Amino acid sequence: MTAEGLPPPFRLVAYDTIGSTNDELKRLAREGAGDGLVVTAARQTAGRGRRGRSWTAPLGNLYTSILSRPQCRAAIAAQLGFVTSLGVADAIAELAPAVALRCKWPNDLLANGKKVCGILLETEMAAGDQPDFVIIGIGVNLVSSPRDTLYPATSLAEEGVPGMTPASVNAALVRHFADWLASWREGGFAPIREAWLSRAAGLGGPIQVRLERDTFQGRFVDLDNDGALLLDMPSGFRRVAAGEVFPVAA
Ligand code: BTN
Repeated sequence: MTAEGLPPPFRLVAYDTIGSTNDELKRLAREGAGDGLVVTAARQTAGRGRRGRSWTAPLGNLYTSILSRPQCRAAIAAQLGFVTSLGVADAIAELAPAVALRCKWPNDLLANGKKVCGILLETEMAAGDQPDFVIIGIGVNLVSSPRDTLYPATSLAEEGVPGMTPASVNAALVRHFADWLASWREGGFAPIREAWLSRAAGLGGPIQVRLERDTFQGRFVDLDNDGALLLDMPSGFRRVAAGEVFPVAA
């Protein structure tokens, strides 16, 4: 273990303030940094979320990015989002067992139904169809959460678990991520898919899917082998590879 409690091959570079841990890790990866480098920051001034959104990053929450150099096709590397969700879910379950945690497709975590963690995967390609590297950026709301978000947000403190430090959550997260990564490398997507489905929010019920130019509803019945959502709709089954999901108001 490193002094910060990370198992090999993970090692930490910790900043006080930085633009975005994803951007800094990308810079280090382009300079040749190896698999397993982790960059954290106490604050980010230009934190990024999915779909070009910003990720507000005040002091006290966790902002961390993990460098992965998977030896596989890009479509397979995208499964790392589910591997990461499971790692974060297990870390929170270990440190805050009273919080009801669910995985929200594709890569968010909900605490008591509100978003507590977001994951941003950024892939840079090498020649052919193989990524040179994947940056896995993770934000976990420990002490505060933004208002006025598309999906309601919360923090562990707001859910009754104060006192979580970014360093301790990061160490637990990397440990559990390492375990799920080993399971993915040995068993492929099957064990990941099964574990993710057992923690999935809204499985079996109606959900709303919003695409850029379309919004529709269906019953969330499964996740396919590529991590796409399978919906049962009056018109038949529909596979959704990208989009945002919301609960359907009763
Ligand atoms: C999302 O839900 O939109 C993804 C949010 C990802 C935020 C994290 S915070 C650490 C890392 N650095 C960034 O700039 N973004 C990710």
